[in-house]
Amino acid sequence: MAPSEALTSVILGPADVPEGLALSDAAGWNQTADDWRLFITQGRVFGLRDGDAGPLVATAAALPYEGGIGWVSMVLVNAAWRHQGLATALMARCVAHLRTLGATPVLDATPAGQQAYLRIGFEDGFALARWEGTVAAPEASAAPAADAAVVQALDAQANGCGRGFLLADFLQRAGTRAHLSPARTGFVIAREGRRATQIGPLVAEDESSALSLLQAALAGVSGRVFLDVPDRWAALRAWLEQAGFTRQRAFVRMSLGAAPIASVNDRLFVLAGPEFG
Ligand SMILES: CC(C)(COP(=O)(O)OP(=O)(O)OC[C@H]1O[C@@H](n2cnc3c(N)ncnc32)[C@H](O)[C@@H]1OP(=O)(O)O)[C@@H](O)C(=O)NCCC(=O)NCCS
Repeated sequence: MAPSEALTSVILGPADVPEGLALSDAAGWNQTADDWRLFITQGRVFGLRDGDAGPLVATAAALPYEGGIGWVSMVLVNAAWRHQGLATALMARCVAHLRTLGATPVLDATPAGQQAYLRIGFEDGFALARWEGTVAAPEASAAPAADAAVVQALDAQANGCGRGFLLADFLQRAGTRAHLSPARTGFVIAREGRRATQIGPLVAEDESSALSLLQAALAGVSGRVFLDVPDRWAALRAWLEQAGFTRQRAFVRMSLGAAPIASVNDRLFVLAGPEFG
């Protein structure tokens, strides 16, 4: 079904952050105003408004990274407007936009989303899951200082694509804590989310160093914590389970129009989030 003619296509600007946030809040998601601002300023967020200047009822974001990859996320439709093809139409705009930039569209899909994306040609890559837990209030401690250039370089190496702007944005946010490993070969970032502290990305040389970094990050935060971990990391999963974390939901990495991303990189242990990869 084509989207209703009563709807107006828009590209979101900075003034639209509160309305975007209202949509992600209504879906119970963890993104903050800072996240919406980042999608709007660094990528392109396609939206649909009810009438010429009515409320925002649907969104989808395209966020290009260096190296020919473009992230698609924030596919949200107000509950009253679902099942009319709005998400499909906005997804198509994201895909077309990324293709004009020469970027392969990539996303992390929930099982329901996966079915919709398979229909439009996305292919499955690796499996991951969101883990959720609660940690006790930490001893008061000074936030560690992490060298942004080192973090950006390690992240680019682990992801195979540059997204320095994303790391720089996370690092300058109030409430962010970042840790570099002693040998400066890995790092982890914990940032504030709407519903929980989000841990990730976490880049390390091997799984045991990843676990040390995770423990350092958890020692610096309190309350509810989310982290998105590729299923490949069995030791990390086992540790999370024994620490009382639960597997909240599954995702699958998907890509369109290039070789599917079959396996997570050897150094990427926790993603920045399904909305960023
Ligand atoms: C999922 C969602 C975006 C679908 O929006 P929509 O405008 O109703 O979807 P469309 O009508 O374009 O899509 C056609 C079908 O594919 C499904 N679909 C499309 N995109 C989807 C997606 N990203 N995730 C799950 N299902 C999706 C829809 O449920 C719809 O099913 P239907 O046959 O029962 O109508 C909407 O229900 C929503 O905002 N849900 C909460 C947020 C969410 O889960 N976003 C997706 C994260 S991957």
